[in-house]
Amino acid sequence: MSAAAAGRGLVLGVVGTGRIGAMHARNAVQTPGVERVLLADALPGQAERVAASVGAEAAASVAELLGQVDGLLVAAATAAHPELVRAGVDAGLPVLCEKPVAPDVPSSLPVLEHVAAAGGVVQMGHQRRFDAGYLEARRALAAGELGWLHSVRSTTCDASPPPVAFLATSGGLFRDVSVHDLDVLRWLTGEEVVEVWARGSNLGDPEIGAVGDVDTALAVCTMSSGLLAVVTASRYNGAGHDVRTELQGSKGTLVVGLDDRAAVRSAEPGVTFPAGPTHPTFAERFADAYRAEVAAFCELARGERENPCTPADAVAASRVADAAQESLRTGAPVRVPAT
Ligand SMILES: NC(=O)c1ccc[n+]([C@@H]2O[C@H](COP(=O)([O-])OP(=O)(O)OC[C@H]3O[C@@H](n4cnc5c(N)ncnc54)[C@H](O)[C@@H]3O)[C@@H](O)[C@H]2O)c1
Repeated sequence: MSAAAAGRGLVLGVVGTGRIGAMHARNAVQTPGVERVLLADALPGQAERVAASVGAEAAASVAELLGQVDGLLVAAATAAHPELVRAGVDAGLPVLCEKPVAPDVPSSLPVLEHVAAAGGVVQMGHQRRFDAGYLEARRALAAGELGWLHSVRSTTCDASPPPVAFLATSGGLFRDVSVHDLDVLRWLTGEEVVEVWARGSNLGDPEIGAVGDVDTALAVCTMSSGLLAVVTASRYNGAGHDVRTELQGSKGTLVVGLDDRAAVRSAEPGVTFPAGPTHPTFAERFADAYRAEVAAFCELARGERENPCTPADAVAASRVADAAQESLRTGAPVRVPAT
């Protein structure tokens, strides 16, 4: 019986309890209307450790978890997303799946077909859609307050690189990091990226180049109206984790991420803004957005709202990331396939 029909709170399951799964588990425990949170992980002991630290319970297996919950959060390694999303949908559960749907677009498409055929409800984890600054930028743009956009610049920089072993399996800087900028480009403007031209560099640890990735990259994106957007990323931003998106229009300019904690300093004499402590990682930068994302999933699971980020949305962003990786490899501009 559903939680609503039984007059009780939601029981949520989190599969995959590493970096982001542990955060989702803690947020789920603290979300109003959630009664219990069950955890499972392929690594022996991992779910138990995280359960003890966040106030959740460890399930004996994924199968046991699926039989007890009202909604499933998939936060396992990317390669496991297709199998776990299918399992959740086949069990009749609403699913919140971390981005991406699958390691690349070709392996994502059968998952989309499966979800559609089963009538499944799957929300994807692009948390910037819940960030206060991005929400305000989207509202202002839709209200015409910026006029028509002539340029967009979006940057995501980590303070320091993750382990090289992770980078070897990440799919590359555009798929791993810039996919969030590519998602908000579409979500903010309502336009598609039709062409992308990318460049990358390796001026840091040569091991990053040795595993086939770059430590810094930029992509020039042409949107469907002809609007130009530049997306940049780096693994070596000593100033702190830096996420900013600048929307420049015929009537005004808005910058998301320009607050006292922004990882920039002014070169102008006497200017002291921003001055606060910068965010060390994405976890602190988007802490509120991750909480709001899980709360939204609970509303979706109770049938109280529309899906805020569909698998098709996530695949559309991944399509641009794949094209950027291809442009990086060949040096040539790449047209982004529409479907
Ligand atoms: N939205 C975001 O901002 C954001 C940030 C970081 C990671 N992610 C995504 O979250 C996912 C996990 O990333 P992470 O950094 O937490 O990785 P991680 O390596 O820290 O954790 C992954 C966990 O999944 C477990 N796991 C792997 N396969 C499994 C399976 N079949 N069943 C159960 N458990 C399994 C591993 O044992 C591990 O504990 C990735 O898909 C990544 O793209 C999203």
